[in-house]
Amino acid sequence: MQIITTQKALRETVSALKELNKTIGLVPTMGALHQGHASLVRRCVAGNDVTFVSVFVNPTQFNNKEDLVKYPRNLQADAELLTDMGVDFVFAPTPEEMYTAEEMNQTFAFDFGGLDQVMEGKYRPGHFNGVVQIVSKLFRLVQPNRAYFGEKDYQQLAIIHRMVEVMHMDVQICDCPIVREQTGLALSSRNQRLTEQQRTTAQNIARVLFESRQLTQSQTVQQVQSWVIEQINRIDGLTVEYYEIVDQTTLQPVSDFSHAIGCVTVYCGDVRLIDNIKY
Ligand code: PAF
Repeated sequence: MQIITTQKALRETVSALKELNKTIGLVPTMGALHQGHASLVRRCVAGNDVTFVSVFVNPTQFNNKEDLVKYPRNLQADAELLTDMGVDFVFAPTPEEMYTAEEMNQTFAFDFGGLDQVMEGKYRPGHFNGVVQIVSKLFRLVQPNRAYFGEKDYQQLAIIHRMVEVMHMDVQICDCPIVREQTGLALSSRNQRLTEQQRTTAQNIARVLFESRQLTQSQTVQQVQSWVIEQINRIDGLTVEYYEIVDQTTLQPVSDFSHAIGCVTVYCGDVRLIDNIKY
């Protein structure tokens, strides 16, 4: 496995692979890799001749400076995990390598068709602009045939699908299911910031989401939405930022549970956790 840190070396590597007609798979990540990422990587290695994993904590998608500073970083541990998985290249650039000073300070504009007006978009203004900015750059550089994203960041996935459609990008987006601990807690790089006690508390998020499935026969969308918020807020140490039940494609509010997904963001102490459940 080779670690590439510059755009120039990446371009050279990619054009050599294209000459050989190799299929390329990309798993974009911000590092602090866990078994959720590993499941994306496994699919990528199985489905392509060559696998690239990018490891880059993208500053333009953080609307909260403190969150950016505290985001866990450990390239060595990440590389160790990837080495044994059949990954060919890790692309780990610096922010300066990816952005000019101008790009860092300007807001990148993309027409999200309303997908960014709800949920994460409301609470993290500018976040998805930064995601589209970096993912479109990575796609231009790596020119993957397929790219792999986790369903835990469900809204991000919906937005990536729209980006590919609107920008006519020739890449297949592969949606990968959430990986959970045995306790139900969705795997996340942010879990590293939880204390043992918080980790136990955080398990209640998935428990409540799964329990809510049983209510869908007898209750309205509004009632289930309120129930989930109330149940999670009742637990000491958890505060819901939002819970919204929306259409799985448009992310707009729904009046029944067919094709619906519930997306939640919960603060566990100062750690912001997200999860979702399809009904
Ligand atoms: O999901 C993530 O880790 C990031 O948002 C991504 C897609 C790697 C872009 O920085």
